[in-house]
Amino acid sequence: MNNLSILVTRRLPSSVIAKLSAVADVDLYTGEGAIAPDELRARVAGKDALVCLLTDAIDRTVIDAAPTLKAISNVAVGYNNIDVAAARARGIVVTNTPDVLTDATADIAWALILDITRRVSEGDRLVRAGGWKGWGLEFMLGTSLAGKQLGIVGMGRIGRAVAARGRVFGMRVAYWQRDPSRPGEPDATPLSLERLLETSDVVSMHVPLNDQTRHLIDAAALARMKPTAYVVNTARGPVVDEAALAVALKERRIAGAALDVFEREPDVHPALLPLENVLLVPHLGSATRETRTAMADLAAQNVIAVLTGGVALTPVT
Ligand code: DGY
Repeated sequence: MNNLSILVTRRLPSSVIAKLSAVADVDLYTGEGAIAPDELRARVAGKDALVCLLTDAIDRTVIDAAPTLKAISNVAVGYNNIDVAAARARGIVVTNTPDVLTDATADIAWALILDITRRVSEGDRLVRAGGWKGWGLEFMLGTSLAGKQLGIVGMGRIGRAVAARGRVFGMRVAYWQRDPSRPGEPDATPLSLERLLETSDVVSMHVPLNDQTRHLIDAAALARMKPTAYVVNTARGPVVDEAALAVALKERRIAGAALDVFEREPDVHPALLPLENVLLVPHLGSATRETRTAMADLAAQNVIAVLTGGVALTPVT
């Protein structure tokens, strides 16, 4: 028996559970879907660490229910599901999983960009519905990307990886970042958000969700975009106002959108569902076996570091 104990809110790879079990007793939630808030509060009481997912709301009530908690380790790079201020006030270390999911998320952003601009999923739907009547010179024309502008909103790790892939496809890269004092990106043009929206052919979202970025893409932002432009969101759903986006897409004020994340997952705004010019993907950004294993492993390493008196590898700053 260990003296320390860890609550893990979802099944993780057995190699990761074994690492955690070497330093502490592991209380693993094995139910289907997310642990219910009441059960979470009950089971976190008396624990030394919590390993949780982005679908677990770690609010003040959860933190208050766990007076001995020393670490909250999110198996995600985004940590908007955690009340970081409440944790900090208690001296609890909060960690996330940056870097290990950068390539997987940049890849899916590009899967979305290629799919929506070349109408791949739309074509798939047409074929399955028996609607394909044969090759046609003007049939299902999409948009070429070479020579066009890729507008990156938020030039962090994932934004940079998406930009690098954009250059391979021959795109010019422009970007906006809230903090102009952060290091810039070589071979990319810094622009105001307004100018970025007005001039980009593909606008790709890579900002964290917080009070400043909620509905960053709203009706006014969409109105600035070119009617031929596309918006792609692999960041967090509430960064885009889905109701405003549905109107802009329906009225063809922009050409299309591709979303991997949604405002109220797993619900999707009903006005988006009948539209052909939007691609709807069920939050698959980091969903490769290799990446999810690496994320779980990093989350475990963070907890082990804190519980054994070391320094967390990737604390939330
Ligand atoms: C993250 O880690 O924040 C991603 O959204 C997970 O897919």
